[in-house]
Amino acid sequence: MNVLVIGSGGREHTLCWKLQQSKGCTQLYAAPGNAGTAKCAINLPLDVTDFEGIKEAVLANNISLVIVGPEEPLVRGLHDYFLADSALSSVGVIGPQKAAANLEGSKAFAKAFMNRHHIPTAKYAEFTVETLAEGEAFLEESIPPYVLKADGLAAGKGVLILQDLKTAKEELKAMLLDKKFGAASQKVVIEEFLSGIELSCFVLTDGKSYLTLPMAKDYKRIGEGDTGLNTGGMGAISPVPFVTDEFRSKIENQIVKPTIEGLKKDGLPYKGFIFIGLIKVGDNPKVIEYNVRLGDPETEVVIPRITSDLLELFLAVDKERLHEMSIDIHEDTAATVMAVSGGYPESYLKGKEIKGIDGNKLVFHAGTTMQDAIIKTSGGRVLAATSYGKNHIEAVSKCYEILGEIHFEGMYYRKDIGFDL
Ligand code: AMP
Ligand code: GLY
Repeated sequence: MNVLVIGSGGREHTLCWKLQQSKGCTQLYAAPGNAGTAKCAINLPLDVTDFEGIKEAVLANNISLVIVGPEEPLVRGLHDYFLADSALSSVGVIGPQKAAANLEGSKAFAKAFMNRHHIPTAKYAEFTVETLAEGEAFLEESIPPYVLKADGLAAGKGVLILQDLKTAKEELKAMLLDKKFGAASQKVVIEEFLSGIELSCFVLTDGKSYLTLPMAKDYKRIGEGDTGLNTGGMGAISPVPFVTDEFRSKIENQIVKPTIEGLKKDGLPYKGFIFIGLIKVGDNPKVIEYNVRLGDPETEVVIPRITSDLLELFLAVDKERLHEMSIDIHEDTAATVMAVSGGYPESYLKGKEIKGIDGNKLVFHAGTTMQDAIIKTSGGRVLAATSYGKNHIEAVSKCYEILGEIHFEGMYYRKDIGFDL
């Protein structure tokens, strides 16, 4: 069977690397992919939101299954587009339809879903330009730090955590009146601040049953010791040492099961991954956010730990046979460390030659491109080096050995991934 992976990051390279190991995978395609996916798939130069272009490519290449990496095509309704088109309706799509993709597309929708289904999360209220005065009054009665969230997709930048009431009120106005995040901040969610350590939980579901993947922890800040600006993610580790059996069963019973049941009760079909961003408050898990996709760079540690055939799992999701499946996990720890372009997450240069990237090591490409047979940087997050070890310390140190052999101008990576574990 021919399979298409949509997206161009480290997550998509990892999915391609894993899928090409499946016996049932005849030809793999990536759209648009990167220099890494080009090694295991045929790259198709398509924008991830070009639904017509994707349709033509699927038909022209006899593709039977499409795995959607990023959230944007899902929130815009790519799965619905396939279902509504008679030429495409038999093609399987891994990734939810638009209605359920709202769990990531609208923070207010996600909060209401959690409240309706008694899923533990921070207390909240939502405001629009018409209720700005109530929003300001709400802030006055809240305890700092103040957590302000743009309702819609804001490229990971829509969450503000502010210490000071005056700034919080100014930012609320900037979001609602000045459209600081465009249409995404027409509505703002103000939330109770939760204090604790964060982790990522991934669930694969066909809408009826589900399988929980290994837990992971990512490192979002640019600087060592978790300082500086937020990034897409600078490294990750799986499993997460502080997730005991007891904590895991709390996550399963208090969060994962009610989420799947909630989707069923609300009549929201869901075939794909649910990424539950969690925070451990005391001894209890609470949901920070839902995403309707895998995390990046968590994928670069979670997928390499799965020893089961990923294509078979996806086909079971498509056919709603997931209850017949199980998932086998490599017991070693996996770690990944992301190398980024100097200056990221602010402005940075592209087009720098990457040396020392060839070989048999697990190096997943993110922002890379092939130009005149040379691999060059093409984004902020450039590549992720993944390794296994008996524990996270061993796994992380092997990542650093790999990165020691790779070079591009301005290359930066955190040298303390796992420091807090
Ligand atoms: P989100 O885009 O919802 O994942 O938020 C980005 C980051 O903001 C999260 O990874 C947390 O570190 C932080 N955050 C979001 N909501 C809260 C909250 N209610 N309390 C504390 N930190 C939060
Ligand atoms: N690593 C966090 C994310 O993918 O959103």
